[in-house]
Amino acid sequence: MPKVRFVPLNRTVEIKKGETLFKAARVNGIPLGSSCRGDCVCGWCKVEIVDGMENLSQPEECEQKLMRTGNYRKHERVACSTRVFGDVSITTGYW
Ligand code: FES
Repeated sequence: MPKVRFVPLNRTVEIKKGETLFKAARVNGIPLGSSCRGDCVCGWCKVEIVDGMENLSQPEECEQKLMRTGNYRKHERVACSTRVFGDVSITTGYW
């Protein structure tokens, strides 16, 4: 099972292969911004990938749209649209 490490919180959780970063955070009580409840609309769930980008799904169309319009940087992803297939470490500016 893939591990998601929330770097500043010093927490690591195991999730089912193919689960989203958003669910990994929410199920484990880790706060993550959202006004659309994970529907890939608001862009508030932006996270920075510290390590393991190669273990994530490719951006879906909705994520690509948010990346174009939401001022995303190279290592940032939309957590509710990003599925995990191997170990990854992430952070945000507010943890
Ligand atoms: S929670 Fe709104 S885009 Fe991810």
